[in-house]
Amino acid sequence: MKSSAEIRKTFLDYFCQQDHRIVSSSLLIPTNDPTLLFTNAGMVQFKDVFLGRETRSYHRATSAQRCMRAGGKHNDLENVGYTARHHTFFEMLGNFSFGDYFKREAIYYAWEFLTEVLSLPPDRLWITVFEDDHEAANIWLKEVGVNPKHFSRCDAKDNFWSMGDVGPCGPCSEIFYDHGPNIAGGSPGSLDQEGDRYIEIWNLVFMQYDRDKDGHLSPLPKPSVDTGMGLERLAAVMQGVHDNYDIDLFRKLIIAITELSGSHSRGNASLRVIADHIRSCAFLIVDGVQPSNEGRGYVLRRIIRRAIRHGHKLGLHEPFFYRLVRPLVEEMGAAYPELFQAQERVKQILKQEEERFSETLDQGLKILEQDIAHLSGSMIFGETVFRLYDTFGFPIDLTADIAREHGLTIDIEGFEHAMSKQREQARAASRFKAVGGSELQLDGETQFIGYERLQIEGKVLALFRGTDTPETVTRLSAGDQGIVILDQTSFYAESGGQIGDRGTLLGSDGLFNISDTRKHGAVHIHIGKVRLGQLQLGDSVQAEVNEEYRIPTKRNHSATHLLHAALRKILGDQVLQKGSLVDAAHLRFDFSHLGAIRLEQLHQIERLVNAQIRANLSVETQIMPLQQALNSGILALFGEKYGEWVRVLRMGDFSTELCGGTHVGRTGDIGLFKIISEAGIASGIRRIEAVTGEMALQWIEENEICLRSIATKLKALPDKVIDRIEQLQQQTRQQEKELQLLRAKLANVEGGDLSAQAQEICGVKVLAAKIEGADVKTLRDTVDQLKSKLTTAVIILGSVVEDKVILIAGVTKNTINYIKAGDLVNFVAEQVDGCGGGRPDMAQAGGKNPSKLDEALRAVPTWVGNCLSARKK
Ligand code: SER
Repeated sequence: MKSSAEIRKTFLDYFCQQDHRIVSSSLLIPTNDPTLLFTNAGMVQFKDVFLGRETRSYHRATSAQRCMRAGGKHNDLENVGYTARHHTFFEMLGNFSFGDYFKREAIYYAWEFLTEVLSLPPDRLWITVFEDDHEAANIWLKEVGVNPKHFSRCDAKDNFWSMGDVGPCGPCSEIFYDHGPNIAGGSPGSLDQEGDRYIEIWNLVFMQYDRDKDGHLSPLPKPSVDTGMGLERLAAVMQGVHDNYDIDLFRKLIIAITELSGSHSRGNASLRVIADHIRSCAFLIVDGVQPSNEGRGYVLRRIIRRAIRHGHKLGLHEPFFYRLVRPLVEEMGAAYPELFQAQERVKQILKQEEERFSETLDQGLKILEQDIAHLSGSMIFGETVFRLYDTFGFPIDLTADIAREHGLTIDIEGFEHAMSKQREQARAASRFKAVGGSELQLDGETQFIGYERLQIEGKVLALFRGTDTPETVTRLSAGDQGIVILDQTSFYAESGGQIGDRGTLLGSDGLFNISDTRKHGAVHIHIGKVRLGQLQLGDSVQAEVNEEYRIPTKRNHSATHLLHAALRKILGDQVLQKGSLVDAAHLRFDFSHLGAIRLEQLHQIERLVNAQIRANLSVETQIMPLQQALNSGILALFGEKYGEWVRVLRMGDFSTELCGGTHVGRTGDIGLFKIISEAGIASGIRRIEAVTGEMALQWIEENEICLRSIATKLKALPDKVIDRIEQLQQQTRQQEKELQLLRAKLANVEGGDLSAQAQEICGVKVLAAKIEGADVKTLRDTVDQLKSKLTTAVIILGSVVEDKVILIAGVTKNTINYIKAGDLVNFVAEQVDGCGGGRPDMAQAGGKNPSKLDEALRAVPTWVGNCLSARKK
């Protein structure tokens, strides 16, 4: 038994001996051919040599080429896992002649290698040729002597090989191995040839033509040879197994998967799929492909996702795929050092992709299961396939794979229809763009039908994720903040002082909470957050305005019009609106008016507005040309921009204004109007704030509660509160007076006691003392008392209140020429971290360091003595 590595080497050695140059495998991404998705055969790197566009130093070559057959021409993805012989990734052993030898040598070499080098019994081999290729048929039958019973001629479908839609091609001859009658399948060319009994192992292509994009064939400069033999298929033959997945290259991988999943059922399609896919995914990443949503990256993503889904079937719910990189490297790292080197990167990319897909896989599978359970026919709806693709990231071949397991097919036409419908919507949405930063570019107009109705059905025309720097998206998911644009809406967008509506958008898949509605040109933008599920472009949604905000806002807006008219009637026509804000809680109205407004006038205004409310005037709107409105004397606001057509809003005969806002049906709906504040905010501009309806009632109630609790605290009836307060004020004044008297008495007593402590220095009485807890007033009074008692004196008193030092110094008039109260107070203050000042006879200071006070006071007599002796000299 030969290992795959030995077979690879034997092959290359054999052709080397036949003067072939051993050329290493090229990358899976063809560097010389933009028409080709992946390297799908050994000849790809020699394409230009066949076409005569490139010459090499050799005319014969041999290689073991890594190949990919997924996506594009030669796509085997769907068959992987279900046959013994298909792979997305495999190695192709080949020998090539660039205008050197042709059919005869190619056939002789192949036969010699198989029957002599590898010693395969000729009676297990079967040969096919292209039906018109008599030359090849003759060589096989007459020269090589192949048994005519093991020989068939096939049509172009089987025996004319092309690398792609364009490029080199030619008739071919294939060699099959017969795995024996125990395996189902007919001989090549028979109806049953797709079975696994006769396996094609080697294809000899007699390269003769170049196919152009119209399908026209022109001869190559020189007839050439390109052969390809699948290493895995040959290894199966040489290792005496029928199934490719039983050869050495796969055995360890399959063991690794069964160890991870605990599933041991050999022949399980999922095991094969995963073992195949880890090879292709790893090598695609090694060769520079990254999972993405288009081109090669999408093929990689499809293969990874298919593998993950099969893992899921085996009970692998945690990322597992990346863990197969290690056993793969053990198996193939020696033959492919680039795989060995890139293994960490491969693991990381695979793990990321697994984590990403596992978020939606379960959900998608559930939806698909439900759909299958309710299916009456045998085809899964295109809409479902599309939804799985678009929302849950299920590539369509993955859905087809699952369908196949249930004996079902998928509706590809329906899928494509849904896809093109979405493209159309995306095109329509391109009228609405995020243009970088906080900028949106929105063309068109949202139809506003929110005057009459709070609930309507709308269609999502555009979606943006984020509100500060919005980004155009096709879907918003739970938790996403964003902006929704609808074709029509019941949501009022902030304008004319009225705030934007709040509410909800309910789609079939999700709920969006709208926290604000604004206007961008004529487009209403609904700002908010997806609370549940998701919102998608094209979704039909129930747009429902929250009445709890809208109704009080309407009351406040209508009351603003009544207030405006009442102000003009009471204060005069010079009153003009300067600004307004209307929300659910209150209204704010700024207007021009010189001078104050008396309370009595304010009450008059309030009463006039409430009279209109009780009159229950009808509120009517009329759309008319702006000029007509202006001609009829309707008040337009200076600086406000109006369109050609305007909406005129009348409340009986009391008020007429141009206004686009939402209003009550009749003024009686306002219920009650209450001014809560009035003030000047700039010269000649005043502001009134008011509340209506429920809020007005609430405001009155709160005031009443406040009054009652004041009354309770004062122990008086509410209507006696004022009398009680006056009585209390009187009492306080009386107590102040008494306190004053007591302080004076206290100072007298303290002063009397302290005077005894004064010491005489140079004929002057000097006193420095501390009175615990005395305030400034007490200290001052005491100093005054002492001054009159001691007649010729220098006095400083200190106290500590709340950790701060207070100092008062006094000097009798007859001594101020020798010593100043300010100097004395500062002498002490400096020592307690403070400073002060005052008149020569009386000064005050503060200090921050009470701990130093006693010491500072003790130093006073000496300091005074020094001053006096210096001056008196
Ligand atoms: N190019 C041919 C094939 O891929 C032979 O190598 O089958």
